[in-house]
This record gives sequence, structure tokens and C-alpha cells, in this order.
Amino acid sequence: STGPLVLGIESSCDETGVGVVSGTRLLANAVSSSMDEHVRFGGVIPEIASRAHLDAMLPTLRAALDTAGVGLADVDAIAVTSGPGLSGALMVGVSAAKALALATGKPLYAVNHLVAHVGVGLLDGETSDSAAGSENENPLPENLGALLVSGGHTEILRVRSIASDVELLGATLDDAAGEAYDKVARILGLAYPGGPAIDAAAADGDPRAFAFPRGLTAPKYLGSTEAPGSHRYDFSFSGLKTAVARVVEGFTARGETVPVADVAASFQEAVADVITRKAVLACREHGITSLLLGGGVAANSRLRALTAQRCAEAGIELTVPPLRLCTDNGAMVAALGAQLVAAGVAPSGTGFGADSSQP
Ligand code: KG4
Ligand code: ZN
Repeated sequence: STGPLVLGIESSCDETGVGVVSGTRLLANAVSSSMDEHVRFGGVIPEIASRAHLDAMLPTLRAALDTAGVGLADVDAIAVTSGPGLSGALMVGVSAAKALALATGKPLYAVNHLVAHVGVGLLDGETSDSAAGSENENPLPENLGALLVSGGHTEILRVRSIASDVELLGATLDDAAGEAYDKVARILGLAYPGGPAIDAAAADGDPRAFAFPRGLTAPKYLGSTEAPGSHRYDFSFSGLKTAVARVVEGFTARGETVPVADVAASFQEAVADVITRKAVLACREHGITSLLLGGGVAANSRLRALTAQRCAEAGIELTVPPLRLCTDNGAMVAALGAQLVAAGVAPSGTGFGADSSQP
């Protein structure tokens, strides 16, 4: 299929991403990550990420245009992530996009990072679990659910129209899922980023060795979403992290070896259990029969398996984009931009800022 040729720019965290799409067709997805520079600090350092974006932005733009075989004059619109994310990091992408828009006269769209994660699911043949490779004129179901799990976010979204009607059903009250992985990895003495390390360690462990808490699943939290104090679709991982720390401290205090594989497997099970339980609950209660899984934690083997299992049981069709499109990238921003152009949404102009805390 063909459609508007859109350039997308992403710089909300540690990935500098520039993507090019033509409607729902992916033409280029160039990504440069500063993760290597953050590893020794055990977390993303905003100042370092911002500087890295500045270094990487123009080379990444060049790479994306070269791969797509297009010039700036050919694009119909430019889209950029304006938030949420790290302010200084966002500003680099927003400034670059505004400069390009001013220089070329192309319409500019400010897009929400979370909605862009969903937008990637609209690209042709870019799904691993549903009808791989098939071309679909309108692949977005009328009532789509999205489960976004990464180092920066843990959200359940309901998407009635990607251009105009996206509702946040639930979110984490404290740490994002990926953050919990990173913190627990540190407690276990595993490398940063912790997700892949815990996933690997858990392979040899018993997920039933420790009964770690499932945050916000007690009956009082599962009341109607309108009831005060209820957090039906919300998440909390701080209690889980503390429980892991207590168990590890216990072994250390007794002079015993910490059973890292068992702790990792039990922690991973707790995260996957609570996330998938709440996502399926939200889908059931909103008549959602199609769910998209996105974000870096979508790489987690247990989360993928349990999401697939529980969606199948509940009759929910699951879509998991390839991992390079689940993690932060510019193609998802371009994909959403193309949807906005196609829907006739007015461009944002250049009067918007980098809004780090937008929902
Ligand atoms: O989407 P992403 O690349 O960047 C953010 O927007 O945060 O997600 C990175 C997060 C990190 O916290 C990392 O530990 C986690 O995804 N992650 C994993 C796995 N691979 C990456 N978490 C669990 N299991 C994995 N296999
Ligand atoms: Zn993201």
C-alpha cells in the first residue's frame, strides 16, 4: 500500500531514532542507542543521553533517508515525539524536527510516545504473531488494546481511533516494569540493563520457589475503577522489589548462597502474572478482542509466553511486533504521523514544546 511519506523522529530516552514510512509501509528505521554509555552508571543519565542525541541525530537522519532512498524534499510530513520522556532528550528531537520543518516548509506533527508505540502495530507485515507478511488496508481493529511495558512505562491503553481516541486504562503507580527488572538485577548482582540478565538467569530457576507479591491485586484494589482507592488496571512493583531484597538479605545474613536462578524466575513470574492478568481483565471488560504488546520488556520470554497463553484462553488476538520495533525507534513515530496525515488531522505547527510529563 502507498500513503503519505512521513519522516519520524524519536529521542525521548536513550535511543535516537529516525524512521521513514509510506502510509503503512516501512521504508527505513535507523536507530542509534547511547545505552553503552549508561551501563557503568546502572541507569540512563539524562545529560549523557541528551549529548548523545545531539551527536547521533544528523547521522541517523542521513542513514534513514539513504535507506529509504528519499530526500527531505520528497516527504509529505515530519512527525516527532514531544513526550513523555526525558526533557533534555526530547528537546533534541523536537528542535531537529522544527528546524527541518522550517527549512523545508513541511507540515510538522508532535506525537505522544506511547501512542506511537501502538502506531507501529499498523505497519504492513511487521507483526510476528498475526498474519505475518500479509498486506492489510486497515489493520487497526476498531477497539484495540495495547500493553506497553518498558524501562520508562507500564500502561494499558484502549485505542478506539489512533488519530483521535486513545484512553489510558491503567498505569504503574511507581516503577515501570523494566525499571523493576533493572533494580532487581542490581540486588542480585546481575548486569545492567537487568531485563536480559534476569531472563537468562531465570531459565534455570524454579518460578514457584518464592511466592513474591502481585502488586495491587488484593480485592480492595480491584473494585470498579471509579471507586476511591481502587486500582483495577494499575500496577505497582515497589513492594515486589522490596520483597526480593528481603529474601536476598536473608540468605546473605545467614551466610548462605543466594539462589539467584530461583529468585530471578520467581520475580519474573510475579511480574508476568500480574501484568498479563490485568491486561486480559481490561480487555474483557472493554470488549477488546485484539491486543498489541510493545516496549522493551516485550522481549521477556516469560511475559511473551504468558501473554500468548492467557490471550488465547480469553479469545484475544495478540500482536507482538518484532523486537526492533517494540523498543524505542523512529519508525513508530513516522507510522503514527502517517495515520494522522491520512485522518486529516491538522499539523501541530512549531509552537509546541518538549512535554516530558504528558500522559
Ligand atoms: O523500550 P526500551 O528499550 O526502552 C525504554 O523505553 O525504556 O526498554 C528497555 C527496558 C529495560 O528496562 C530492560 O531491562 C528491559 O526493557 N528488557 C527486558 C528484557 N530485555 C529488555 N526486560 C525483561 N526481559 C527481557 N528479556
Ligand atoms: Zn518507549
